[in-house]
Amino acid sequence: MANVRSTYTDKLQFFGNNTPQELVQRFGSPLYVYNENILRTRCRDLKNLSTHPKYNVNYSAKANTNIHLLRIIHQEGCVIDAMSPGELYMDQQAGFTSDEILYISNNISSEEMMNAIQAGVLMSVDSLSQLEQYGRLNPGGRVMVRFNPGIGAGHHKKVITAGKETKFGVTPDNMPEVLRIIAQYRLHFAGLNQHIGSLFMTPEGYLEAAAFLLSLAETLPAEILHKLEVIDFGGGFGIPYHKYEGEAPLDIETLATGLHALMTEWADRTGYTGRFLTEPGRYIAAECGILLGTTHCVKNNGDNRYAGTDLGFNVLVRPAMYDSFHDVEIYREQPATDGPLMEQSIVGNICESGDIIAKKRLLPEIHEGDIIGMLDAGAYGYVMSSPYNQRLRPAEVLIDAQGNAHLIRRRESLADLMAGYETPGNGAASR
Ligand code: LLP
Repeated sequence: MANVRSTYTDKLQFFGNNTPQELVQRFGSPLYVYNENILRTRCRDLKNLSTHPKYNVNYSAKANTNIHLLRIIHQEGCVIDAMSPGELYMDQQAGFTSDEILYISNNISSEEMMNAIQAGVLMSVDSLSQLEQYGRLNPGGRVMVRFNPGIGAGHHKKVITAGKETKFGVTPDNMPEVLRIIAQYRLHFAGLNQHIGSLFMTPEGYLEAAAFLLSLAETLPAEILHKLEVIDFGGGFGIPYHKYEGEAPLDIETLATGLHALMTEWADRTGYTGRFLTEPGRYIAAECGILLGTTHCVKNNGDNRYAGTDLGFNVLVRPAMYDSFHDVEIYREQPATDGPLMEQSIVGNICESGDIIAKKRLLPEIHEGDIIGMLDAGAYGYVMSSPYNQRLRPAEVLIDAQGNAHLIRRRESLADLMAGYETPGNGAASR
């Protein structure tokens, strides 16, 4: 007996000693499932980008902050970023020390800035006015500046983070002003960073932007350049979402060769002794995660065929938000014969017509009771989920290196919906 469509996960033995059906039976539906081996492999892929002794991977925690995944990423020797007090807290809870955390700030209050300064973590600021704020709060402190190299990349205009059409970074022509503020507050200019956008599938743009950041660093006065501690090229490493069409992965080898050459040549030439970082989120976390759901209804509306599931945009918002594509598996034991393909949309249980997780896909016929797997859901999946329509956030399960399944976060409960409410002191509750 085989499933209707599961060759991708079968080959990887993604679910270890369990079937997706068993996992849903045991832990409920919908369910995020993570595979530890894949997570570790992805960390190693990027740690092995360069043998430069000062190169490391700075995992971008926004992609997935499950504490158990963070601990594995820490064990793999990566460092981590944070961009909010909550991410900083989770990084610390996972065991990252203050010198393993880089706070990439964006339009933050002085309280938030002070919180990070007091935690002893290095911070990158994103504008001249935030650099001034940092100087006022922590004169003599260490600070990095995020630059906007003017080269953007990404899968959707909402995730391109460089170029003139974005809010991010200081433009290079502002360098004299950066240096003036640094001098005014006796700050130590600790490094430069950038992030051109999310999900590039060819190495050229990233390498071009990396070369640009290095050439910008080289324009710094020698006494600053020689004391720089960090150059962070940013994230954006893409993964192939079209698994069943055989989409080619990012050419990591070309990227590795190019980046290693850039870093070593530049460090040799300038005498730079600081660290080099890449800052991937999706590449590390996406492919180790699959979202499982259950089909509760199938129907035709005119010519359109729908499979109605519990996979609403409350659990995985990327398709509704960016029109993102996640490939689909269908789990139902059946004799190993290929059924005819038909056009179907997989929809959720949220009261909005945009609640479509897979639009007009050519798939084997989905039946009531089928378990659906949304592939590559480990990054920007659970972290972007919401309790919209007062639906409970799903549970999360880890398949360990031996193939055994462990509950690593329980499903939310109805009581969680009431957590946090206060009774108004003015008696409004009883009016
Ligand atoms: N560094 C900075 C400063 C970032 O803003 C980001 C992502 C990253 C690193 C990591 O980028 P990655 O390697 O994961 O591409 N929610 C969107 C993606 C938003 C990315 C935001 N910034 C999605 O689901 O596609």
